[in-house]
Amino acid sequence: MQEYLIRDINLAPGGRLKIDWVRVHMPVLNVIREEFERTRPFAGVRVAMSIHLEAKTAYLAEVLKAGGAEVAISGSNPLSTQDDVAAALAAEGIHVYAWHGATGEEYVEHLVKVLEIRPHVVIDDGGDLVHLLHTRCRELAGEVVGGCEETTTGVFRLKAMEQEGRLLFPMIAVNDARCKFLFDNRYGTGESVWAGIMRTTNLLVAGKTVVVVGYGWCGKGVAMRAAGLGAKVVVCEVDPVRALEAYMDGYLVMKSEQAAEVGDIFITVTGCRDVLRSRHFRRMKDGVILANAGHFDVEINKPELAGIAVSRRLVRQNIEEFTLPDGRRIYLLGEGRLVNLAAGDGHPAEIMDMSFALQALSARYIWENGNCLKPGVHLVPPELDRRVAEIKLSSLGVEIDQLTPDQKAYLQSWQAG
Ligand SMILES: NC(=O)c1ccc[n+]([C@@H]2O[C@H](COP(=O)([O-])OP(=O)(O)OC[C@H]3O[C@@H](n4cnc5c(N)ncnc54)[C@H](O)[C@@H]3O)[C@@H](O)[C@H]2O)c1
Repeated sequence: MQEYLIRDINLAPGGRLKIDWVRVHMPVLNVIREEFERTRPFAGVRVAMSIHLEAKTAYLAEVLKAGGAEVAISGSNPLSTQDDVAAALAAEGIHVYAWHGATGEEYVEHLVKVLEIRPHVVIDDGGDLVHLLHTRCRELAGEVVGGCEETTTGVFRLKAMEQEGRLLFPMIAVNDARCKFLFDNRYGTGESVWAGIMRTTNLLVAGKTVVVVGYGWCGKGVAMRAAGLGAKVVVCEVDPVRALEAYMDGYLVMKSEQAAEVGDIFITVTGCRDVLRSRHFRRMKDGVILANAGHFDVEINKPELAGIAVSRRLVRQNIEEFTLPDGRRIYLLGEGRLVNLAAGDGHPAEIMDMSFALQALSARYIWENGNCLKPGVHLVPPELDRRVAEIKLSSLGVEIDQLTPDQKAYLQSWQAG
C-alpha cells in the first residue's frame, strides 16, 4: 500500500510542533492514550478516517495508533487540511492522503485511497467515507465491523440510509452524545467561527448586525459569542420552537429576506442548502460579509452569487469580492466552506479533547461490540459519555457531589413524599 500522498514531507517538523501543542491541552485524550498503550485494543485493526485534517485530528489518529491500529486518514474538506500536519502524521507511519486545496476529484481519490486499507473501523465526518463504501467502493466494505460519525450532517445522511434499509453496518452517532453537541457544536463552533472571521477580515464585530441562520446547537454558540462581542444579533429559523427559543434568548427573529436588508455579517449554520440565495443577495447592503459554518458549502448558493455578479476578485486571503451591477459588493469568506476550518484552525483543543475522547472510546466500543449490533445508527453508550465528562472535570480540578443511597432510591421510586 502506498504510504502517503501529501504536499511535502519536509513540512513535518512544523506539523509536529502543532500536534505537540494541542496534545498538552487534551487531558482526556491523554488518559485514553495511556490506557490504549497498556491494553492495545486495536492490535491488528485497520482504521479508516476522514476528518478535518488539522492538529487535533492528527492527535486522535496517533492515539488510535498507540492502541495498535493501522490508520489511514484523509481530510473531510479540501480547505481544512493543513499540509504540515499531514506531513507530521506521514512521518509517524500513518497512511495520509490529503492536501490543502485538493480539487473535487483529488478529494474523492484521497478518500478512496484511505478505503483501500480495507478498514475494520471507519471514522467519518460528514458521511463521505460511508457513502463511498455503499457506492463506488462497495467491495472494500466487506470487513467493516462498524464506525463512528462526527457531525450533525453525517448523522442525517446515516439516518436517511438507515431508513431506506441501505446501511450495511452499525455506526455510532458521536455527534449526538451530550459531551459532543453541548460543547463542540455550541462552544466550539461559537468560538472558532468568530476566531476565523476576525482573523480573516481583521474587522470589528461590535456594533454590527450579525444574522445567524439556523439556531441549532452550532447556531446558539455563534449567536451567543456574537452578542458577547457587542453585535446586534438576528436569528432566522424554520423550526418554530427553535425560533421561539432564539426570541426568548433575547435575539431578534425574522424572515431571512427581511434579515438580508439589515445584516452586516451573515453566518449560515443549518446543514441545509440554498439558505442564502439570489433573492437574499439582491437585498443586501454594500460591503456585507457572508460566511458558512455548516458542514457542506451548499448553504450559501455560490453559483447564484456568481451569476448575479458582474465581477469577482480575491481581495485578501480567503475573502472573495462579488460586485453586483449597481456597484454593491458582497464578500464571501473561505469559498463558503465552513469558515472556522477553511479560514481558521477549527475548534479549541480543549473542546476537541472531549469530542475525540468520545471518538476513541466509541471506536473501541464498535470494534469490540460491532458484530452484536444491528446495521443502523446507534447512540454512544451513556457510560462513555459520562466517563468523558468525569475525566474532563477531574482534569479541571472540579469535584461534584454524589447521590446518597437514599436519594438514589427516592429518584427511582414512584411513591410520593
Ligand atoms: N463548523 C463546525 O465546526 C461545525 C461543528 C459541528 C457541526 N457543524 C455542522 O453545522 C451544521 C449545523 O449543525 P447543528 O448541530 O447546529 O445542527 P442542528 O440540527 O442542531 O441545527 C440546525 C438548525 O438549522 C435550522 N434550519 C434548517 N434548515 C434551515 C433553513 N433553510 N433556514 C433556516 N434554518 C434552518 C434547523 O431548524 C435547526 O434548528 C451541520 O451541517 C453540522 O454538520 C459544523
